[in-house]
Amino acid sequence: MSKNIGIDLGTTNSCVSFFEGGVPEIIPNPEGSRVIPSIVSISREKKPIFGNIAKRQFISDPKNTIWGVKRIIGRKYDSPEIEKIKSVASYKIIESENGDAQIDFNGEICTPEEISAMFLRYLKGIAEDYLGEEVGKVVVTVPAFFNDAQRQATKNAGEIAGLEISRIINEPTAALIAYRDKIKTDGYYAVYDLGGGTFDISIVEVKDEIFKVVSTLGDTFLGGNDFDAAVSQWILAEIKNEINTDLSDNKDSIQRITQAAEKAKIELSFNSETQISIPYLFHSKKGGNYHFQKSISRDDLELLTSSLVARTIQLVKDSLSEIDLEPENIEKILLVGGQSRMPMVSRYLTELFSKEPKFDLNPEEVVSIGAAMQSELLHGRMRDLLLLDVTPLSLGLETKGDKFTKLIDKNSSIPIKKSMIFTTISDNQQTVKIHVLQGEREIASENKSLGNFNLIGIPLAPKGLPQIEVTFEIDANGLVKVSAIDKQTGLSQSMNVQPASGLSPERIKQLIEDAKEFEMKDRETIRMNRAVAGLNEERESIKFFMGRYSEKLSEREKEEIDILLTQIEEALEEKDPPAMTGTLMKAIDVRKRINNMLVADFEE
Ligand SMILES: Nc1ncnc2c1ncn2[C@@H]1O[C@H](COP(=O)(O)OP(=O)(O)OP(=O)(O)O)[C@@H](O)[C@H]1O
Ligand SMILES: [Mg+2]
Repeated sequence: MSKNIGIDLGTTNSCVSFFEGGVPEIIPNPEGSRVIPSIVSISREKKPIFGNIAKRQFISDPKNTIWGVKRIIGRKYDSPEIEKIKSVASYKIIESENGDAQIDFNGEICTPEEISAMFLRYLKGIAEDYLGEEVGKVVVTVPAFFNDAQRQATKNAGEIAGLEISRIINEPTAALIAYRDKIKTDGYYAVYDLGGGTFDISIVEVKDEIFKVVSTLGDTFLGGNDFDAAVSQWILAEIKNEINTDLSDNKDSIQRITQAAEKAKIELSFNSETQISIPYLFHSKKGGNYHFQKSISRDDLELLTSSLVARTIQLVKDSLSEIDLEPENIEKILLVGGQSRMPMVSRYLTELFSKEPKFDLNPEEVVSIGAAMQSELLHGRMRDLLLLDVTPLSLGLETKGDKFTKLIDKNSSIPIKKSMIFTTISDNQQTVKIHVLQGEREIASENKSLGNFNLIGIPLAPKGLPQIEVTFEIDANGLVKVSAIDKQTGLSQSMNVQPASGLSPERIKQLIEDAKEFEMKDRETIRMNRAVAGLNEERESIKFFMGRYSEKLSEREKEEIDILLTQIEEALEEKDPPAMTGTLMKAIDVRKRINNMLVADFEE
């Protein structure tokens, strides 16, 4: 039976895990990393490379080294967030026809979904190599505060990668599932998740073994990357002070500065002071090399980043007040995400809650473990756990005067279904346009547009008479569905769906097919490379035995080996995979036989 896995698809790092005999296991990548850098790049041979290997290309090929896609996925090109990424990204972000943000990867324009899909396909391969079998169903996590477009785009990426996504779950909720056996008393728990790119706070009520998320808030653009940027700004200012040179537009220097900034930031979680040293950072026109070297203290770092932590604390307070809870009502604060390791985070939380937050499980792995656990739970392979999640954003539609009319309130338990009756505003009106939005602002245009739905073919009637029931549904993945029925005729209304963003179903289908072909080809290449390497190895060993022990071999044996060596040469030349595999098996067999024979001879 194939294994179900959980994938924490992070902004900076991803983590894959599964359950074996009720125990979670993390799947490391071939470089041995348990948390895998979410980076895609291209090798000198123009092949996509991933993870740690791709990370090494940061400096040498920043233009084609794509990181932080999770901050781009499901967003419009003209959003303030993309504007911010453009100033720090080493790669090019481009506007698509429908206004989405796209990425220039090695001269090809890719959607963020496609980049994510390439990376997910790489994770799938790692898991399959590790498990020695195809992966089964997959649970992928997303920030709790992701909207429908971001969730849909993530799901599409998984599908393009050839994964069977059984559920999309919220990262803090996944963390909570992983903590389930450590939660012994009923009450309210806070999951504080500060990762590389996003921040989420979820408040969960635990009662009689039922876990109910009661409030969730977050910022999908607040994480460790912003801490790195703050330190980078400090380095840039120091350089300007020292040599009166502004390097903020120099993309190559920025990459090195950002890496040094992150390294220093992490070191300052353990030490009160550290050195930042960036040799050969800048080559001046006068011919001199500039090496940056400065020490930075934990106090300096805290001064630079306290406003970021303060923003998270404000969101924690807001999430509590939304449900009328006081900090002292919280039993435990669970820390998730690498950036939550920063001592200032614990200090601020301790101040707010008058108790220290908990780090019992590894904050970088806990989300993935929860996802794998959910995968097992969904398919009945683990003791059930009743968990009710919520939708982070209100769902509704645009009504007259750019007003946002909410149908489903934020923090409603999901899945949820709600209907509303619509009618026409003019006589003989045959079409009603419905604009679906997600957000909290009263003005419709200030919220996230999910799509336009044209209800067409309404029978001719005076205004106000037709009754069209529109149903809004949010499923367990947090994904939105809208359907409509004409009450008068009882027939479902035909709907013209024009998604405001994302890939069209046809394009997704095409990409899935392309990816499958790509995967088959990739696997064939890998298999072939393996066979070539194996054949070369066997040929050398056999030649070695022949040369060294020829007097111990009979003429018949020598002849057999000669034939085999010719077959190996032919197989290597023809590069026909089945023939190569067949010859390889034979070669291994012969080599073992000679080997045994010689060993036996020596022992005599
Ligand atoms: N000891 C540490 N102190 C401070 N920050 C740290 C430490 N270790 C890791 N980080 C930071 O944590 C971030 C990565 O955390 P994590 O792997 O949880 O994020 P992610 O899952 O990729 O992001 P997200 O969940 O936001 O999508 C990076 O910004 C990294 O610099
Ligand atoms: Mg994370």
